[in-house]
Amino acid sequence: MFVFAHLSDPHLAPVPVPYPWQMFNKRFTSYLSWLLHKRHIHHPALLAAMLADIRSFAPHHVAITGDLTNVALPAEFIAARHWLESIGPAADVTVVPGNHDACVPIDWRHSFAHWAQFMAGSPDAGEPETPPASIRDFPFVRRRGAVAFVGLTSAVPMPVTGTPAAGRLGPQQIERLRHMLAGLGREGLFRVVLIHHAPHPMLSIRKALLDAPEFAATLAEAGAELVLHGHLHQSDFEEMAAAGGMIPVIGVPSASAKPYRDNPPARYHVYRLTGRPDRWRLEIEAREALPKAAGFRTERKFHLDLRQGGLAPGSDLKAAAGLATMLASAAPRDLPSAAETVLSGAT
Ligand SMILES: [Fe+2]
Ligand SMILES: [Fe+2]
Repeated sequence: MFVFAHLSDPHLAPVPVPYPWQMFNKRFTSYLSWLLHKRHIHHPALLAAMLADIRSFAPHHVAITGDLTNVALPAEFIAARHWLESIGPAADVTVVPGNHDACVPIDWRHSFAHWAQFMAGSPDAGEPETPPASIRDFPFVRRRGAVAFVGLTSAVPMPVTGTPAAGRLGPQQIERLRHMLAGLGREGLFRVVLIHHAPHPMLSIRKALLDAPEFAATLAEAGAELVLHGHLHQSDFEEMAAAGGMIPVIGVPSASAKPYRDNPPARYHVYRLTGRPDRWRLEIEAREALPKAAGFRTERKFHLDLRQGGLAPGSDLKAAAGLATMLASAAPRDLPSAAETVLSGAT
């Protein structure tokens, strides 16, 4: 059995006070959003309780899908690296960037270079893993047991208006993804695609993955067994069509949030994988924060049966669908006013 945990969007606090010259850009609205709204939602105590709970399951691996920072300050990247190191060795912890981590254009050396060891991968089996040296080195692959974690970056600086929290993979990354997934499929590995943005085509353009159709077409052709994302701060279960069947797409809420609006409290998911390529069994346990950071409880447990490339009969799809706390409520909340942009600072 291979056990891994997925958490996302910790939005680590506290946020250092930016120098004035660091705010002559989109950081201004993001920092305002933090001061007025988000600092009241994201609590380090919840995150600490979550990490303690995760340790009690002794997972082989922990995957984190972005938004570790809030306004992409260099000091936030350093603090996030220390936080990542507190979770476990870099070989056992994988991170991908979120849109807040690319809130503004920032030099690699002062940003993602600090996390590079947690994104080290190797496209070829048996080759040593090397950390990425730039955004052009995505996606990366980390083989762990029967699992191949494929890390994408959908984090690119976006304008303040129109698409402030949107993401994009870009054609080069998607083309590399196609080759990687096909090769990993031939290796018979359980392919887990990690991406910050939810790849749902129906999302508001303000927070969407702008090349979601190209991403979906690539997965349909090359195959994958599971897609994990964050960004929406809500639980989410969807399916994407692929040649081998339907690929489960599962989102997790923020790892540090107390309940707000219609969003659930902090959650993470535990995955237990057994089986082989023609008969995978994936057990999923959603763990949810108790009030006052008093610990975590199991919100639900269900299983998915998969063959290589998609869901198989026997999956507990009813319980999986019940995981979703969003989409129905997320779509109408497309309020493109400036006030909404600042105050919600969406995801
Ligand atoms: Fe996000
Ligand atoms: Fe977020």
